[in-house]
Amino acid sequence: MAEWWKGFFDADYLADYNSSDMKAAPREASFVRKTLRLRRGQRVLDECCGYGRHAILLAQSGLVVTGFDRNRFFLNKARRDAAKAGVKLTWVEGDVRAMSFEPVFDAAINMFTAIGYFESDEENYQVVARAVAALKPGGQFFLDTINRDMIVRNFERTSWKEIAGGVSMETRTADWVHSRLNVKKTMIFSSGRRRRIAFSLRVYSIAEMIGMFERAGLAVTHTFGNFNGKEFTLDSPRIIVVGRKAKKRR
Ligand SMILES: C[S@@+](CC[C@H](N)C(=O)[O-])C[C@H]1O[C@@H](n2cnc3c(N)ncnc32)[C@H](O)[C@@H]1O
Repeated sequence: MAEWWKGFFDADYLADYNSSDMKAAPREASFVRKTLRLRRGQRVLDECCGYGRHAILLAQSGLVVTGFDRNRFFLNKARRDAAKAGVKLTWVEGDVRAMSFEPVFDAAINMFTAIGYFESDEENYQVVARAVAALKPGGQFFLDTINRDMIVRNFERTSWKEIAGGVSMETRTADWVHSRLNVKKTMIFSSGRRRRIAFSLRVYSIAEMIGMFERAGLAVTHTFGNFNGKEFTLDSPRIIVVGRKAKKRR
């Protein structure tokens, strides 16, 4: 299942997630803005921005936004949607493990479980480290990912849901020794087309995530369990961690 993420994020992913994700995006983008106290004109990097659902909203609120992702199909959609919204952003295509910006950003965000895709912990850590490297001294990093403890405590072996034009079913197994969730997914569309795909995600406890933040040179300023700003508990759907890069000493 190595590099499953190369074939996963496409039009079928949008059939599965696009409508619910687009509904959630305004509240999430506004929570980011308020939590980080972002001001018009500040520079924000959306790491693994996908089709830009947060990046475009942040740009509309007066921020200067760069979206980074490896997926050309998503970036092209993001470009079209930004043009429709009448905002200018910078879109950069590349692999996050090699992402390299000068430290010019006031903030970086990583949204909706865009971490844990790689096989080694060191590669997954690079997702945090490379975002931090792009921050100015004093810059902030906001990360939102799925909560491992919630999955452990409410483990669902199978589930299904309606998606645009069909249904999607998931069968899940876990490798708790390596803290990985392995999912087999089948989408069946009303046309009769079936799509089978598997993915494997390294899932994190909040303490592990905080450990990665600190290793990367961030002081943690906030933790939350959802986008309403609720305190983190073991059953929280999300892990949201915010950290600040040290200011330079004079
Ligand atoms: C779950 S989506 C989240 C997208 C976006 N942040 C959102 O909230 O809609 C994960 C994103 O990570 C991107 N991604 C996966 N592997 C990547 C890699 N190696 N380098 C850069 N981006 C990657 C995918 O293309 C996809 O857009």
